[in-house]
Amino acid sequence: MAPRGPRGAFFGERGMRDISEALAALDAEATAALESAADEAALEQVRVRYLGRKGALAAILRALVDLDPAQRPAIGKCANDVKQRLEAALTARREALLAAARSAAESAHVDVTLPGRPIPMGRLHPSTQILRRICQIFADMGFQIYRSPDVETEEMNFELLNIPAYHPARDMWDTFYTTEEGILLRTHTSPGQIRAMRESWPHPIRVILPGMCYRYEQITARSEIQFHQVEGLAVGRHVTMTDLKGTLVSFAHRMFGAERRARFRASHFPFTEPSAEMDVECILCEGAGCALCKQTGWLEILGCGMVHPTVLQNGGYDPMAYSGFAFGMGPERITMLKHRIEDIRYFWTNDLRFLEQF
Ligand code: DAH
Repeated sequence: MAPRGPRGAFFGERGMRDISEALAALDAEATAALESAADEAALEQVRVRYLGRKGALAAILRALVDLDPAQRPAIGKCANDVKQRLEAALTARREALLAAARSAAESAHVDVTLPGRPIPMGRLHPSTQILRRICQIFADMGFQIYRSPDVETEEMNFELLNIPAYHPARDMWDTFYTTEEGILLRTHTSPGQIRAMRESWPHPIRVILPGMCYRYEQITARSEIQFHQVEGLAVGRHVTMTDLKGTLVSFAHRMFGAERRARFRASHFPFTEPSAEMDVECILCEGAGCALCKQTGWLEILGCGMVHPTVLQNGGYDPMAYSGFAFGMGPERITMLKHRIEDIRYFWTNDLRFLEQF
């Protein structure tokens, strides 16, 4: 501290230099303390220590009165500059601390009142939905689900189903062949009939066989190279056409509504004898005739018949002792009829605008 004489008697150059040095030291020290103040409380301590009423700067200012009056203005101005600079630095530091605290709070804070981000929910493909519905209806009637492979032998897919190589029906069921001789992608679920029979003999059978089928086709609104089928097979000692009709009419009632009429038309399939196709009353015009049913009032939904004796035999069952019925339907076709979908290609295009409607 500068030597002090009686009041007003700081002498000359010496006192002035001491005060200037003290101011410069205070300026540097306080600036450093402000810079390193880590929070509002630390900042307040620094403020009190250097700029407070009983602080270091006030002490220096008080000493000015001891200075030679001629020197006071210059030193006073210098002290004022220091004071202003420190006050500005204090404000700047306070704002910086506040901004940092705010941004930390923003990133750490979870606003529980904000609605959550929606999690997109998937759903079952329309084909899967209809497959499950079909399986459920037949399960209620005591049918079990039998799985058989998509990759089949030519023998299972054709010969054993009474479709010999020269048969014209082979054209209708043309498919994709693998590089291995006699191995192909099945054109229908019917070969599963042979597999189910060979596995179940000599027990009675009541199964459905859902699965993907493949055909070598031009892809159009009406035909795809892959689609599902659900095959049905019942074999036993006294299975009759009446059982076939009862089962399928029950199915149609549960699928399309109890008031919906069904009819059987004679048809032909190499693996059934006799063969039929089942129609249900048009779900759109209810029999009056419209574009969907091509003015007939009826929609064809499946093929069926009594299992051909040759096929029973190929499955290991004696056709003199056993009989059976079989049917095959296309779930995509049924979905198309139910929802008036006009193009089968939608099923595998994976367009959400289509899929989200189901
Ligand atoms: N497999 C036939 C097809 O793909 C559908 C079929 C018709 C299956 C009659 C059957 C049946 O079991 O009895 O076109």
